[in-house]
Amino acid sequence: MTEYVLAIDQGTTSSRAILFDREHRVRAVAQKEFPQHFPASGWVEHDPEDLWATVVETCRAALAEAGARAADVAGIGITNQRETTVVWERATGKAIHNAIVWQDRRTADLCDTLRRAGHETEARSRTGLLIDPYFAGTKLAWILNRVPGARERAGQGELCFGTVDSFLLWRLTGGKVHATDATNASRTLLWNIHSGEWDPVMRGILEVPESLLPDVRDSAADYGETLPELFGGPIRVLGMAGDQQAACIGQACFEPGMIKSTYGTGCFALLNTGPQSVTSRNRLLTTVMMQLDGKRTYALEGSIFVAGAAVQWLRDAMGLIATAGETQGLAETADAAQDVYLVPAFVGLGAPYWDAQARGAIYGLTRATGPREFARAALECVAYQTRDLLDAMRGDWGGNDFGASVLRCDGGMVASDWMMQFLADILDTPVDRPDTLETTALGAAYLAGYRAGFYPAPAEFARDWRLDRRFEPAMTEPVRARKVAGWRDAVRRTLTTAS
Ligand code: G3P
Repeated sequence: MTEYVLAIDQGTTSSRAILFDREHRVRAVAQKEFPQHFPASGWVEHDPEDLWATVVETCRAALAEAGARAADVAGIGITNQRETTVVWERATGKAIHNAIVWQDRRTADLCDTLRRAGHETEARSRTGLLIDPYFAGTKLAWILNRVPGARERAGQGELCFGTVDSFLLWRLTGGKVHATDATNASRTLLWNIHSGEWDPVMRGILEVPESLLPDVRDSAADYGETLPELFGGPIRVLGMAGDQQAACIGQACFEPGMIKSTYGTGCFALLNTGPQSVTSRNRLLTTVMMQLDGKRTYALEGSIFVAGAAVQWLRDAMGLIATAGETQGLAETADAAQDVYLVPAFVGLGAPYWDAQARGAIYGLTRATGPREFARAALECVAYQTRDLLDAMRGDWGGNDFGASVLRCDGGMVASDWMMQFLADILDTPVDRPDTLETTALGAAYLAGYRAGFYPAPAEFARDWRLDRRFEPAMTEPVRARKVAGWRDAVRRTLTTAS
């Protein structure tokens, strides 16, 4: 009998492999970082060979740590940094250009041109997205237009496009399967979230030939099996989802109105809106949360590009801290009389502002401001940005008020009690930290395990979700209102466009 499900979590800064048992317990973890490439200002690339090599290495290490054989694994679930774009040769599996990462802004001018040509309304109604360099579509167009010979080769059916899930699947199956799942497809600007098909109008606007595109399947589906030589025997790939959607599943946010927020490099809040896709009036994204048994569940998503990255900036660029863990201690002892605001627009601002040209700013400095106040401002800006997202969600989901409900949080930053309390205070909403912080990998494992019959249906899985600690709002309303007004003023001064 199989004992495990293997989750592959291919993220922005590292690849991880985690083995879960039937009780959703973590039985082995392996993690490996890989280099980031910044070839020009605002450009971010990964070498696809690094992504592949670290995935294989971590899977092997996790299997070895648990003493598991391929035959002990019921299935693999893949979750991944979303939107990051790879184009590779069908014949060799070799990428024709580095992967263009979700944070990359090189297509800002193309996006401006598309917006000026009036395509935003089409994009919104068909894909649920905005025209922004964040999504895969314009990155793919850039590769086709800029890599010599790429467009001709694409026309002749020699190339494949995929987000990272798709590229890994191609490699894992030895080039037998070119597929993705609905959650990843919903981040491409090329896929119609209502019909569930590659959208001919968006393909026309971005000039993308259909032969490049992967087959789109359920998030829990048969994706083929791995080459036997990779892990000492074949393992079936049975689940796939973008990492933020996987976190939503791992947090068991299966009911409409439930929200999760993940604090990694950036922060991504997803509100489950059920079988109904909700069009945002507040510049949030409409996206697929999962597709199970042919049925799509939609979400409203708020995407913030800098969360934990603000703490990394304190450490790596400013040299104010040696480790991320020091931030909480500094923030706790910062001067309460100083209102310092960091607007971390290092790569522009995401939802709900969508200003690709804005750059970071800090306000309220005095002669007394020092590392403590910088540290507190770096943590606080994450809570203020979450507040912006939740306010936008409340506006969009008005009739179905979730005002009384709870935000389920995960990701590296939620280990800080100070951060969690400040979040609850600024949101004026209780904030829950789950027992299992490996929610993204658990979501991917769940999808594969569900398909394999190893894990139960969603409702039963949700009953096993366990709370570590709930943080209740404790700040008085006048203080909260003053702080939020200060943040809004700081953002207004930073934006390059009227919002
Ligand atoms: O949309 C980008 C997101 O999927 C990246 O997540 O956790 O790899 O920073 P992460």
